[in-house]
Amino acid sequence: MIVPGSASQEVAAALASELGESLAAVEYDWFADGETLVRVPETDDRAVVVASTISDNAHVELLQLQDAAGQRADEVITVLPYMGYGRQDESFAPGQPVSARAMARAISTGTDRVVTVNPHEGSITDFFDVPCVAVDAAGLLADPLPELSDPLFLSPDAGAIGLAETVRDAHGGGDTDYFEKVRHSDTDVDVRPRDASTTGRDVVLVDDIVSTGSTMSTAIDQLSDPDRVFVTCVHPMLAANARTKLATAGVEAVYGTDTIERAVSTVSVAPRIADTL
Ligand code: R5P
Repeated sequence: MIVPGSASQEVAAALASELGESLAAVEYDWFADGETLVRVPETDDRAVVVASTISDNAHVELLQLQDAAGQRADEVITVLPYMGYGRQDESFAPGQPVSARAMARAISTGTDRVVTVNPHEGSITDFFDVPCVAVDAAGLLADPLPELSDPLFLSPDAGAIGLAETVRDAHGGGDTDYFEKVRHSDTDVDVRPRDASTTGRDVVLVDDIVSTGSTMSTAIDQLSDPDRVFVTCVHPMLAANARTKLATAGVEAVYGTDTIERAVSTVSVAPRIADTL
């Protein structure tokens, strides 16, 4: 049985359909002090909890769902389509936690294994105390792209060039390149272009996540006279005014997957996740 977190109902339904399994109708209650109480009315021998941890509340909800499901199921599998705190994968200053590891340890306590999708760093899977596999969904990002003219698949930093190459390969042709990026703060990112020519070309910017949109909008500002600009990412967090920033920067369309459920989530990672279950 698939047990959906409240932020992952679309992807959970798609996964249930892929696997031919039923969906648990999770019930919710909220107390005056702000605490949440979930109820999982039924489970099979195997419970697959599907919950993107897009917020602190979603983390708490996931721990509750795991605990509730584990009381009846013999096996609990946790699917994190998007793993929150994944970008805090090291201690950036003395006294700071490795937040991704802290979250992974907590999640490990209520599950037999974990499946996640394109974590920020592949090594994050090692933070879990139970087996964890990472699904690569980047190839799906080519699906919604329109016909492109002389395309350039561009990642905003060297770390995402593999994603750009995967999308290019899935699309079937085009060049790839990346920008050099210096991050000054959460919202202040300086992007220095390498030498790919963008004049008159369709440019597809590819990244694992668009959060504030600062990285993408800064990169777009550096493009020299492109024809059309598309933004595609696995995790369309699109926090605050990120979507507006991209529209203002002249982006023709934004595409993402349903690891985070937004209006731009045009492709589902459910088939890739189903392959691991
Ligand atoms: C960083 O290395 C990531 O790959 C993304 O480029 C970054 O996290 C995007 O964040 P934002 O949209 O806030 O610039």
